[in-house]
Amino acid sequence: MRRPLIAGNWKMNLDRASASALARSLKNSMATAGAERDMLLAPPYPYLAAVAEILEGTRIILAAQDVSPFDSGAYTGQVSTGMLLDLGCTATLVGHSERRAISGDTDEIVHDKVVKALDAGLHTVLCVGEVESERERGEAESVVRRQLSVALDGVRADQASLKLSVAYEPVWAIGTGKTATSADAQEMHHEIREFLESSFGGDVSARVRILYGGSVKPSNAGELLAAEDIDGVLVGGASLDAESFSAIYSA
Ligand code: PGA
Repeated sequence: MRRPLIAGNWKMNLDRASASALARSLKNSMATAGAERDMLLAPPYPYLAAVAEILEGTRIILAAQDVSPFDSGAYTGQVSTGMLLDLGCTATLVGHSERRAISGDTDEIVHDKVVKALDAGLHTVLCVGEVESERERGEAESVVRRQLSVALDGVRADQASLKLSVAYEPVWAIGTGKTATSADAQEMHHEIREFLESSFGGDVSARVRILYGGSVKPSNAGELLAAEDIDGVLVGGASLDAESFSAIYSA
């Protein structure tokens, strides 16, 4: 009942020409692929408009990598939900570990962004995940539960049901070539599903897609996606190459 969601986070990579070329070639491979999966692309802000134009009329979901928790005003460097909608974006990532580690996004800021994005009707991909030392201390589950409970405080069940996805990205697996085993990932995804059930009820938790992220590539995507509670993947490095991202899409 959950359609797999294959998401590409381009981070701060590419230039206008290569971003457009990548979008064009994914559009072409999507046109020939089956319709039983969703694809989401998160280009850097400056290329959203160019990519939006290329993706117009396709089923590919255009996402931002982050969003401001404010509506408008004196917030230099920030981009609001209204601006994203204006550009043709229908989705956004929130709480990516690089935002948390490098740009100071606390659990509370992530919460404010999630609420703002959901209130604007954007499909919101909330990213959570523990760092290596937390996993070593046996705290992975409690860290992820804390991130979820702060971020989703006050979110309504209907918003979660229609517009929320969660991406579990163990920080030690991002860009390192290390991947959680599908069994470890499944265990955490199951915990996340239980958290969603206790917060929003069984109908909602059965609908929310939980993606795995961290060094996903064509060679491991199939096994990850076969796990019961892994409903998609969030791909960084391997999403920058049309061939490898298309291979993950059809894995
Ligand atoms: P990676 O990044 O696939 O390069 O590990 C994943 C992510 O940060 O979303």
